[in-house]
Amino acid sequence: MTLTAKGKIAGVMGWPVRHSRSPQLHGHWLRLHNIDGSYIPMPVRPADIQQALRALPVLGMAGTNVTLPHKQAALAAMDNVTDTAQRIGAVNTVIVGADGKLSGDNTDAYGFMENLRQLAPGWQPGAAPAVILGAGGAAQAICVALQDAGVPRLTITNRTAARAQALAAALDPFCQVVPWPERAAALADAGLLVNTTSLGMAGAPPLDLDLTRLPPDAVVADIVYTPLETALLAAAGQRGNVVVDGLGMLLHQARPGFRAWFGVDPQVTPALRAAVLAD
Ligand code: ATR
Repeated sequence: MTLTAKGKIAGVMGWPVRHSRSPQLHGHWLRLHNIDGSYIPMPVRPADIQQALRALPVLGMAGTNVTLPHKQAALAAMDNVTDTAQRIGAVNTVIVGADGKLSGDNTDAYGFMENLRQLAPGWQPGAAPAVILGAGGAAQAICVALQDAGVPRLTITNRTAARAQALAAALDPFCQVVPWPERAAALADAGLLVNTTSLGMAGAPPLDLDLTRLPPDAVVADIVYTPLETALLAAAGQRGNVVVDGLGMLLHQARPGFRAWFGVDPQVTPALRAAVLAD
């Protein structure tokens, strides 16, 4: 990685931002492709996010990623947003145009789908319904991704029913809501099960889910990647389901931003996974 006065600068805005893996991830690609550029962490307080985003063209920056808690608020600072970002209601990738205008995209849906295609190539979107555990921001992106992929029906189940209902209403009539205590029964016709809750993450409570009714050919994906093999993935793998871990979604969502800022289409490889995991 070199950085001259002509170098391109991008980064990630979050609060806090120190947990973000994005600097390691983009740093790996910058070194690999020997690019004249840099990717920096930017700790931005919630009250300052609009001002920080509007400063990007003023500072001559190529763009930024936006992470928690700014993804929804970033939408309002954009000059243009993609249809996907609009439907998800959140922006995670900002590109500064040659005219200084800010374009907002949401690449979480793309990241989820690319990871699924890479790790479960046999999964057929149109073959069976999907079940989503959780109704937060990640669930919103994944529901939009699955709708666009042609999944015939989606079942959302969440501890707080009102959040599941709000998400389902936005995607009506594609989604149905099942009460959280009935989640095990909802697995009966699933071709894909996705955990988007924080349950099973190191330091969080375990995900309590009986997989008995899940069809043996269903794919099981978890967005949690600390640990990489969650108890859900271990249990699903033991009964023969194809499993998809959460790290790849993070790696793939970074690709469109890197391509736009630095002009190279980067790949998700075992070396990249190892570099990000080693951190
Ligand atoms: P994100 O936007 O990153 O998806 P979030 O909005 O905090 O994060 O969502 C976390 C998800 O984990 C939610 O679906 C949350 O359920 P609630 O909507 O009921 O809060 C779920 N979750 C977190 N802790 C949980 C717990 N102890 N039991 C069940 N669900 C839990």
